[in-house]
Amino acid sequence: MIEQPLLDVRGLSTDYTAKRGGKTVRVQAVKDVSFTLAKREVLGIVGESGCGKTSVGRSIIRLAKPHRGEVIFSGKDIFTTGGDALKQLRLKIRMVFQDPFASLNPRRSIGDSIAETGDIHGLFASKAERHRQVQQALSNVGLDGSFAARYPHELSGGQRQRVGIARAILPAPDVVIADEAVSALDVSVQAQVLNLLADLRESMGLSMIFISHDLGVVGQISDRVAVMYMGRIVETAPTASIIEQPIHPYTRTLMAARPKPDPRIRIKAGIEIGEPPSQFERPAGCPYAKRCPLVTTICTTDDPALRTIAPGRLVACHNV
Ligand SMILES: Nc1ncnc2c1ncn2[C@@H]1O[C@H](COP(=O)(O)OP(=O)(O)OP(=O)(O)O)[C@@H](O)[C@H]1O
Ligand SMILES: [Mg+2]
Repeated sequence: MIEQPLLDVRGLSTDYTAKRGGKTVRVQAVKDVSFTLAKREVLGIVGESGCGKTSVGRSIIRLAKPHRGEVIFSGKDIFTTGGDALKQLRLKIRMVFQDPFASLNPRRSIGDSIAETGDIHGLFASKAERHRQVQQALSNVGLDGSFAARYPHELSGGQRQRVGIARAILPAPDVVIADEAVSALDVSVQAQVLNLLADLRESMGLSMIFISHDLGVVGQISDRVAVMYMGRIVETAPTASIIEQPIHPYTRTLMAARPKPDPRIRIKAGIEIGEPPSQFERPAGCPYAKRCPLVTTICTTDDPALRTIAPGRLVACHNV
């Protein structure tokens, strides 16, 4: 029997409204995104700034209102859940936010910030239990217990990122959505936080959606990678396949743009990237057509569907 995915995202679309030249316009931040996440799996979501990665994460935990689609978690549709069930769900799926400085209250001690969710949900039977769990969460992310009394401005970027992770894991979630969890850190601290996430995955049996604009970083931690472009997934494959044989022309560009390309990888690069198309005026056809070296007539009229081209491998392109 095939195991049910832990999380099953089906046809997720999220729109925002924005003001432009006095008019209200719609931004299609996420467009018909589908993927699954297995227990203990790490799925990387990669793509350039503004392609909709954060919006996918925020839609899953219902911080952004999705326009269409379903998210099935442990067999239940998240979007039709309310009341207590929704509260429970918010303990099971936790997000590590893109900017830990912005998500930490500057006037709250680190200990109080870490305990916040537990306080709200009544998870602590006593003050002593609250203290014990905060100390445990700090220890789990490799921080000394004395950090509980400190304040966000007294911490380094890497330490703040660890606090963000401690907040997320305190209620022992099943899924962590880590949004650009290492992007603001220098390379050696990046490696430490990546190792921490990998260790937590093992020790807590976590599943993870790991969001980053950097395919090199995503490749270090993910089992599978989904590449996003203008709100859509354009390629999904096991990490090794994406790195050794990227297929979608955009994935190839991302590979070529990695800061430290692996010398084993040979990419027929030299792809001209060009300006990204406007989010406000979605072109007809494939959104990547304007920048694509493989463009043909059909690309300007028909938006290619994501199709399976090998087991576990999906690509949205007319010409591969
Ligand atoms: N609250 C909002 N209101 C209006 N538009 C929004 C809002 N949040 C995001 N957007 C727009 O939706 C699109 C996707 O944004 P999102 O933050 O999901 O991208 P991202 O891939 O996470 O980018 P980055 O790598 O810069 O974090 C962008 O065009 C953005 O401007
Ligand atoms: Mg983002």
